[in-house]
Amino acid sequence: MSNQSKFIQTLNGDVAAIPPIWFMRQAGRYLPEYRELRAKAGSFLDLCFNSDFASEVTLQPIRRFDLDAAILFADILLIPHALGQELSFVEGEGPRLDPVVSPKDIDVFRKRDILGPLEAVFETVRKTKAGLGDDKALIGFAGAPWTVATYMLAGGPMKDPAALRLRYYREPDFINELIDVLTEKTIAYLIAQIDAGADAVQLFDTWASGLPWPVLDKLSVGPMDKIASAVKKARPDIPVIFFPKGVGEKAIEYVHLKSCDGFGIDYAMDPAWARAHLGERVVVQGGLDPLLVVAGGAPMEKAAETLLKLFHDVPYVFNLGHGFIPETPPEHVATLVDFIRRNG
Ligand code: CP3
Repeated sequence: MSNQSKFIQTLNGDVAAIPPIWFMRQAGRYLPEYRELRAKAGSFLDLCFNSDFASEVTLQPIRRFDLDAAILFADILLIPHALGQELSFVEGEGPRLDPVVSPKDIDVFRKRDILGPLEAVFETVRKTKAGLGDDKALIGFAGAPWTVATYMLAGGPMKDPAALRLRYYREPDFINELIDVLTEKTIAYLIAQIDAGADAVQLFDTWASGLPWPVLDKLSVGPMDKIASAVKKARPDIPVIFFPKGVGEKAIEYVHLKSCDGFGIDYAMDPAWARAHLGERVVVQGGLDPLLVVAGGAPMEKAAETLLKLFHDVPYVFNLGHGFIPETPPEHVATLVDFIRRNG
């Protein structure tokens, strides 16, 4: 279908001469135009819930770098917020939430409607879609249940992964219930993003890293499959990309799922291994260490060239192995995009 964007064509199996490009955290503090709107909006949450500003911020990196896909500007923690958890973003510290303490909290969550409180997000999707050309795709997203649960349980970024793992062994029913509620809510949230105009969706499981195998299967592989399968059943044409960070060779377990169309590789994974073991089953995305874009120059270009060479004969989406950090010089991003388009 020629009216599809290069990004969607690639996810559907086409091999492009030059791969489609987008970057995790492509909108954000490294861009002066982002910082300007962020200051005008007030808090980070105010920015997420102002659909005019959020759609503008979503489009900023597309205008600046002519990327092939935009990612909805929002956050994985908007679901806990919509479930009624107090949420704030503390400058220099990251998110802070009222920790979930008891099964009673989960009963309250189960009854909550999240689509109403998140209406501004769907409005952002509609506005962004209207501002994008047909050759560009819009990616919707959500956090995978385990990663969202770590923030809900710890009340912020997980400082002690061992404590949460121990809690899972001691209170498996409690954690499973929370994962289950998040799974159900996330399915509805992603379908609503698709109905508002998202062309593909990505699930971020940043804290899949470090879980022992049977626990990873139960808390990450299983819930991600459940979400992706339900979304695909409801909206069969929409590709689903998985990004479970730091899972190493366990990546194989995800790419064997029928529900997984694309797989984001993190910067710690050997891309040659990924090409050999994942590249025949799903569309691989990403891999470049975001710190190489901070460094720039020959090391960045050499690593990009390695990825382009390894994946030249299979569908591949160029991206990072995690998000840009605020120290990233925008000029290095421009150089990288130019390099990919000259050497693809
Ligand atoms: O450009 C994009 O990638 C789209 C928007 C997006 C944001 N967060 C915006 C954001 C996406 C896809 C996310 C995902 C997200 N959020 C993840 C998964 C991916 C990953 O990075 O591991 C996680 C774990 C979160 C939770 C979160 N949000 C944290 C831990 C923080 C604080 C850390 C930080 O970088 O400040 C945020 C805040 C946040 N989310 C910012 C942005 C642009 C920075 C907020 C600001 O402008 O002050």
